[in-house]
Amino acid sequence: MRALCSLILLAALPLSLAVKSHDFKTCSQAGFCRRGRALSARAKESDSWTSPYSLDAASLALSPDQASFTAGVKSSLYPDIKFGLDVRIHEDGVVRVRMDEINGLRKRYDEAASWALVSDPKISHDIKWVVGKKEIRAKYGSKGFTETVVLNGQGLLHMEHFRTKAPEPPKVENETTEGNPEAEAAQQVLEVPNPRAWFEGDTEDAYWEESFSSWTDSKPKGPESLSVDINFPNHGHVYGIPQHASTLSLRTTTGENPYYTDPYRLYNADTFEYIADSTMSLYGSIPLMHAHSADSTVAVFHAIGSETWVDIEHPSSKSTRTHWISESGILDIFIIPGPTPEAVFAQYSKLTGTQANPADWSLGYHQCRWNYVSSDDVRTLQKRFDEEDIPVDVFWLDIEYSEEHKYFIWDKKNFPDPVDMIKDVEALERKMVIIIDPHLKRVSSYPVYQEAVDRGLLAKQKNGNEYEGWCWSGSSAWVDFFNPGSWDWWKTLFKTNALGDGKFSWTESTENVYIWNDMNEPAVFNGPEISMPRDNVHYGGWEHRDLHNINGMLFSNMTSQAITARSDPPKRPFVLTRAFYAGSQRFGAMWTGDNLGTWEHMAVGIKMVLANSIAGFSFAGSDVGGFFGNPDPEMLVRWYHVGAFSPFFRAHAHIDTKRREPFLLDQPYKGIVKDILRLRYSMLPIWYTAFRESSVTGLPVVRPHYVVFPQDEAGFAIDDQFWVGGSGLLVKPVTEKGVSEVSVYLPEDQHLHTQVYYDYFTHQTYRGSAKGKNVTVPAALHQVPLLVRGGSILPTRERPRRSSPLMKKDPFTLRVALDKAGNARGELYLDDGVTFSHQQGHIVWREFKSEKQGKGFKISSHDLAKANPSEAVDGVALTTYDPANAFARSIQDVRIEKVVVLGLPTEPSSVKIGSEDAQWEYTPGVAASGKVDGVASVLVIKDPKASVIADWQILIA
Ligand SMILES: *[C@@H]1O[C@H](CO)[C@@H](O)[C@H](O)[C@H]1NC(C)=O
Ligand SMILES: *[C@@H]1O[C@H](CO)[C@@H](O)[C@H](O)[C@H]1NC(C)=O
Ligand SMILES: *[C@@H]1O[C@H](CO)[C@@H](O)[C@H](O)[C@H]1NC(C)=O
Repeated sequence: MRALCSLILLAALPLSLAVKSHDFKTCSQAGFCRRGRALSARAKESDSWTSPYSLDAASLALSPDQASFTAGVKSSLYPDIKFGLDVRIHEDGVVRVRMDEINGLRKRYDEAASWALVSDPKISHDIKWVVGKKEIRAKYGSKGFTETVVLNGQGLLHMEHFRTKAPEPPKVENETTEGNPEAEAAQQVLEVPNPRAWFEGDTEDAYWEESFSSWTDSKPKGPESLSVDINFPNHGHVYGIPQHASTLSLRTTTGENPYYTDPYRLYNADTFEYIADSTMSLYGSIPLMHAHSADSTVAVFHAIGSETWVDIEHPSSKSTRTHWISESGILDIFIIPGPTPEAVFAQYSKLTGTQANPADWSLGYHQCRWNYVSSDDVRTLQKRFDEEDIPVDVFWLDIEYSEEHKYFIWDKKNFPDPVDMIKDVEALERKMVIIIDPHLKRVSSYPVYQEAVDRGLLAKQKNGNEYEGWCWSGSSAWVDFFNPGSWDWWKTLFKTNALGDGKFSWTESTENVYIWNDMNEPAVFNGPEISMPRDNVHYGGWEHRDLHNINGMLFSNMTSQAITARSDPPKRPFVLTRAFYAGSQRFGAMWTGDNLGTWEHMAVGIKMVLANSIAGFSFAGSDVGGFFGNPDPEMLVRWYHVGAFSPFFRAHAHIDTKRREPFLLDQPYKGIVKDILRLRYSMLPIWYTAFRESSVTGLPVVRPHYVVFPQDEAGFAIDDQFWVGGSGLLVKPVTEKGVSEVSVYLPEDQHLHTQVYYDYFTHQTYRGSAKGKNVTVPAALHQVPLLVRGGSILPTRERPRRSSPLMKKDPFTLRVALDKAGNARGELYLDDGVTFSHQQGHIVWREFKSEKQGKGFKISSHDLAKANPSEAVDGVALTTYDPANAFARSIQDVRIEKVVVLGLPTEPSSVKIGSEDAQWEYTPGVAASGKVDGVASVLVIKDPKASVIADWQILIA
């Protein structure tokens, strides 16, 4: 979160806080990006371009099991410089390609993967690979040998080796040769042509120093950039490399008529009030790219922590070329072979881990604002929600709770009784999330700062002195979380009991306080590009430039560990982070930062959440209402629909905006927002079940079309409608003003050509077509276009409550949306939602099935955990799963209170649960198996007396 302007702050800062894209570099303003693009331009201009790099055949060494090989790599430009290549193949077919300089003047940063990877990958012993003389080619694909991923196919691989700076040429007097032909000729003779210019260019462009705005980056290590082209000759779409405010299917940035002029940039930055359609870098960076075609899905993950730019080009509609240019680090590319989206998610999550199974309450609604200004403000907030009967789970406190922005330390003027305030919130089983930013006010009376000083934990300038910069707390310092000495210490700060010895811990807090880590790019108001100088030095001697994009992840990692460790037994953490990297999904949730209250930002927020989701980080959302600005009621209502269908659902607003909590709206808006929140709460079981699947398979919680229908080309670029987990729910939130209906695309299905879809609310049917089809769905302000695909069973809880924990013993409703053949299936996953007892098998994981049986139908419930103990939850094998586990027993009285069956062909003659007659009501309508559209027939089975943990059968005759 960043202020547009605060007068006090402006006065204290050397730099203006005005928000312009010129606070941030374009490629042409970043020396290494300029060099990388120039290299690519020279390659394109040349007819005879070949990479100067070649494998040293003599050095090729194959491991005895053929699982990996190493080879020397030489550059014809610098015969004395040696590089080493290491290629290995993991058990699941992922190929890891590493290249580093050998015995260089210095060591390149090679630790990015160690932070991103969840464990050491297991190497395969039976896969074979192919290697050419000058290229590294990984050939994959289910259908024979289609060229899938080609590294260095365009010959753009370049690892700038470490070198010594040539002494400055002596200053020659300004001897002008102009107009003196003899002197001119003499000078030309003296200029030795540079034999490497064809590849490296003929100037040392920004090798040793570079300036941007008022900043100079000293670059003591000199040039060390890394560039590589990665081509997908048979894939027309690429996705991923979040975070950018852009479309899901990445656009061209180079070649003929590029859509953008700059490459996609990955450099975590506090780009507040960002542009809603741009390749500019934002707060987080995940260097993972999917490449997709109707035949296969593959991906590449480049474990690099430095600033990286990615150019994209489509030589044809069926192929993609990319060019990755990084400031420093080793080449460490994981080629993820797929060949299906599911396989790509499984392979990538084996590398960096899956989305952590969240605390269940964190899927409820979060109410935030900069700022709720006092304890009484928080109490009034809660009272107003309750008076209006609007559900909410979490109240948030932004930076103004703290005294002079010394996080952990309450501003006692406005928050005289913080623990009492938190307990008032807890009384309704709600939680608080409070912000802890990484900048520490540099005053010795602030114990957190002083302890960090005493322990030598602060980030340093290149001269070894403590780094000082400006942020919310004025003159500030930053803990270097790369220093292992910081790890245990950070955890102690969150203990809610006193530590003794005068050491600080947050005793004015409780175990129901969770954490928001903002500003962790890190944001430094008076730093270059509003961050730290790149020549700052971290633990181990690495420069900030080497690990900039990883920095924020360590902060949320340590905070999430601290929150988990403060309770005994430990509780699931909740940490919201703004900066992130590959692997951040293990530590909590993210949001898309400081968006604007505009329709464009509302729309792009959906695309950004999808991009994040396919890059492994599913627990994502954008600020409902927009951080800046005052959305009108229509926009706000539409934004609540967007939020209600985001994995993370939080409203937030800037300090200069008008208050806009749901209870402040006039009718009908207030009633509509209340209904939207109740809809979200009724669907929490669906979301929680989707998170379970994600925690095991890596499949995203919200899924774009290409993930669900990978062969349906018409869906490959669609990013304004999406699927909720594997539930069969298809949603298209409205993100335009004055809309009363929208066109929803119904994808092609390879097996059931014309599947039927049901409007979730009205049961109107829509039939797809074998070629894919657009249908018009009503979308008045109170309506979110929400369809259920035939063949789905949705578990919901439909009793409105004030917070989600109050719903834990509520009964379930099952919506059975029959497919054309009369079948349907769905899942429900439950656990205590708070502790880690689910990892010991304290879970309920049910499958509901509807099957055609004779002329009737059978609906039944089965124990999925018993059937699939190895994949039940969180990737933990449940060897000891017991259907009568303590959690299951605790909800054995929770029943199914209603079963709604959509699309039966005729009125039943009897409905039995087991052998007993059930109560039911039938409204005739359109059948799932029919051909015409209309309102579907609805059978409501009332109180079938079925426990949610038991096996049961309902027979419809
Ligand atoms: C010095 O060199 C600059 C640039 O080449 C030229 O414009 C200028 O006239 C020269 N000055 C003298 C005194 O020769
Ligand atoms: C981060 O998290 C992982 C667990 O996913 C842990 O193994 C690692 O040591 C953590 N620490 C840091 C400083 O990143
Ligand atoms: C659906 O509508 C979109 C947007 O208007 C259009 O591009 C697409 O071709 C349509 N698809 C079908 C199958 O009609």
